[in-house]
Amino acid sequence: MSQGLINVAYIGATILFILALGGLSKQETARRGNLFGMIGMGLALVVTIIGLVTSNYAFLIGALVVGGSVGLLLAKKVEMTQMPELVAILHSLVGLAAVLVGYANFLSHSSGFTGIELTIHHIETYIGILIGALTFSGSVVAYLKLSGKWGGKPLLLPARHWLNLGLLILAIYFGIQFVGDASAGAGLTALMIMTIIALLFGIHMVAAIGGADMPVVVSMLNSYSGWAAAALGFLLSNDLLIVVGALVGSSGAILSYIMCRAMNRNFISVIAGGFGSGAPKSSGPAAEIEGEVTPINVEEVADMVTTAKEVMIIPGYGMAVAQAQHMVSDITKALRKQGVNVRFGIHPVAGRMPGHMNVLLAEAKVPYDIVFEMEEINEDFPDVDVSIVIGANDIVNPAALEVPDSPIAGMPVLEPWNGKNTIVLKRGMASGYAGVENPLFYKENTRMLFGDAKESLEALFKLMS
Ligand code: TAP
Repeated sequence: MSQGLINVAYIGATILFILALGGLSKQETARRGNLFGMIGMGLALVVTIIGLVTSNYAFLIGALVVGGSVGLLLAKKVEMTQMPELVAILHSLVGLAAVLVGYANFLSHSSGFTGIELTIHHIETYIGILIGALTFSGSVVAYLKLSGKWGGKPLLLPARHWLNLGLLILAIYFGIQFVGDASAGAGLTALMIMTIIALLFGIHMVAAIGGADMPVVVSMLNSYSGWAAAALGFLLSNDLLIVVGALVGSSGAILSYIMCRAMNRNFISVIAGGFGSGAPKSSGPAAEIEGEVTPINVEEVADMVTTAKEVMIIPGYGMAVAQAQHMVSDITKALRKQGVNVRFGIHPVAGRMPGHMNVLLAEAKVPYDIVFEMEEINEDFPDVDVSIVIGANDIVNPAALEVPDSPIAGMPVLEPWNGKNTIVLKRGMASGYAGVENPLFYKENTRMLFGDAKESLEALFKLMS
């Protein structure tokens, strides 16, 4: 295959990847976005194999079959709630690939560069292996934490920021050593010492991050894996890898920033570690809560929602746990048939990963045009007759706005208490992810429908039909 043809195919794949990212930004176009991504990746793979690989075909095809089968199996088996840990372990592989390719490239001495170009090449090798190694070990720790095999508590070593700084200085020192030695054909020792430092840094960085901030970290590691891939692109002089790596790197960084903003976390604090322990310092403003919890039964709920004009559904992590999305969809259909205006209010960090609720609602075929983001809908609550909070807690906690020393203070939340009535579906009085009490449950216009969300909704649906 001529180089010209390879370039054209690579440009085509790049355009498809950009269209994929564009498509994924909206629910209506997400499927198409995914399709563009798949076609782009298929094209990139085929062109790379046919155009660039000249030997070892059996080995390559064997690796593709093994890798492809593992990927297929994992994708089929994984539960929605296990998605972050799957993503974490996949990132670790990108990091490992960067390390292995970096070493292979260095040891083969096959770059063909001389002078300043060779120095630049060695710097690329060093940076590629550094990012790859810390992405690898950081992602493995993230996987272990998310899958519950490593405790959610942050590991807070004394003087940990100094330790990080020390590791960084050492990495720079050995980098200078490496670049000096590498031109003379040496430098392997410096490279290996740096790899160990980067592996330790990755472990320490993620170990110091608390459970509540883990999804931000996964998206940040996603970004790192992109930059590791871009570094590989430079090493292998592969333009497509550079572009794709940069796309993944920058979109991961933007996503991390958006998530931090939605949780009112400082991005730098999150990556510096030790914040968001998941277990709050205090157990929240328990003493300040006034009012009583008023339970409601499902017959009363049926009465309320069928006579309402405006209903707002607020789904949260509990809806995902109960797998209640299909029941939610059926009830929505039934209510709309009776002329009730049903809308959904989605908090940006509802559930446990970005877009968690949107994915579940799309799976249950809830129409996109009645699903709204928090900013679009918060002002409408005064006109809402009944808000139904399904397995959500932190994202509807007024303490975020009213209690300055609350662990979730400053986090923007949905405000159903401004509506006429709120019904909360949950199993008991347990707190949410942040571990804080929720004054919403004690408000005069709030009723609690206790029980598993799916079972409660099934009972409600039966009464309605
Ligand atoms: P949470 O605050 O975690 O509350 C979920 C509630 O669901 C719990 O209080 C639980 O109460 C209830 N629940 C659990 N299983 C249930 C079931 N089977 N049926 C009915 N209810 C059930 O969830 P949220 O409001 O969605 O907030 C998300 C939290 O995760 C936020 O603190 C957010 O910062 C954090 N977080 C999210 C993300 C992303 S990207 N989404 C990332 C990091 C952190 P009971 O046990 O009493 O039933």
